[in-house]
Amino acid sequence: MKRILSGIQPTGSLNIGTYLGSVKNFVKLQDKLPDYEFFIFIADLHAITVYKDKQVLRKLIKELAALYIACGLDPERVNLFIQSEVPAHSQMAYLFQCNSYMGELERMTQFKDKARKQEKGVTVGLFSYPTLMAADILIYDPDFVPVGKDQKQHLELTRDIAVRMNNKYNDIFTVPEPLIAEIGAKINSLSNPTAKMSKSDDNEKSRINLLDPENIIKKRIKSAITDSMGTVKYDPENRPGISNLLTIYSVITNMPFNDIEDKYEGKGYKEFKEDLGAIVFQELKPIQERYNELINSKELDLILDKGRDRAIQVTERKLAKTMDRIGLGRKRK
Ligand code: AMP
Ligand code: TRP
Repeated sequence: MKRILSGIQPTGSLNIGTYLGSVKNFVKLQDKLPDYEFFIFIADLHAITVYKDKQVLRKLIKELAALYIACGLDPERVNLFIQSEVPAHSQMAYLFQCNSYMGELERMTQFKDKARKQEKGVTVGLFSYPTLMAADILIYDPDFVPVGKDQKQHLELTRDIAVRMNNKYNDIFTVPEPLIAEIGAKINSLSNPTAKMSKSDDNEKSRINLLDPENIIKKRIKSAITDSMGTVKYDPENRPGISNLLTIYSVITNMPFNDIEDKYEGKGYKEFKEDLGAIVFQELKPIQERYNELINSKELDLILDKGRDRAIQVTERKLAKTMDRIGLGRKRK
């Protein structure tokens, strides 16, 4: 059976950027591709490349799992699990560290960005992170990996490692294709619309979290940075603020930009923003309701147990095969 896999880091509450750019895409794919097996995981090992408080980390892991289901991931269709509960990911990562080079990891733009921000030194984990990501992926032999644009470079490295290992050790891995969502692939910050909306931005006004209450959602949209032109027109080069809001509008309603522009012809930002606030809240309300049912339920634990068990089954076999091809341990009978 063909497979699709993706992961998401529990580094902060989910915001509409990650939701529209990534989670919603998974939900669509799960419905569109019934003959694929899906693996979606919470990348908690990736989250500790930069120190996280224990209580905060625990809470975020659980919250993310519940939100995934609340956003429409179907636990019957998708194996949802927590990365650290499947030990073969880390074991495979070590094998990849021995098959990747300092130079190629030093080139990763995400590493360079994050390393620059560390005040207390850069961990080895932050540096080797792309090898763990490659392990997360290649150990499942997926055909497709849905990710946001910012993960494209890591996917390319993953493919390089796969090809390199295939050449050295006789075709072990499927070389996966990234699936990058066309529109909504990037939602920008509400306060700085040329930068990505991010969980780690210190400015809370920059984002809308999925669990934000109605008044906050509306307030954030109202105070989103636009420009002084006052017309609702999509022009990301010159008018990033209003274009970002149009993107959010369009991804949620499925309306093309032209139609939205026509609808707000002759109207100002105020009316557009009021409508958008209501649209975003309508989208998030059912998610919040389902989340509240799930967050402390036995159901959620059972879903995560089932996902973990299937992931362990797949990854143990692949790890054993890979180690055998490399020549580690004793020859398999
Ligand atoms: P992260 O939350 O940074 O672990 O990202 C999880 C996934 O969501 C990745 O594939 C990201 O590329 C995607 N993503 C995160 N933030 C955004 C955003 N503002 N717009 C679109 N996609 C995003
Ligand atoms: N690095 C990804 C991010 O920051 C999360 C991630 C970890 C991931 N492992 C993965 C995504 C494997 C896809 C496949 O968004």
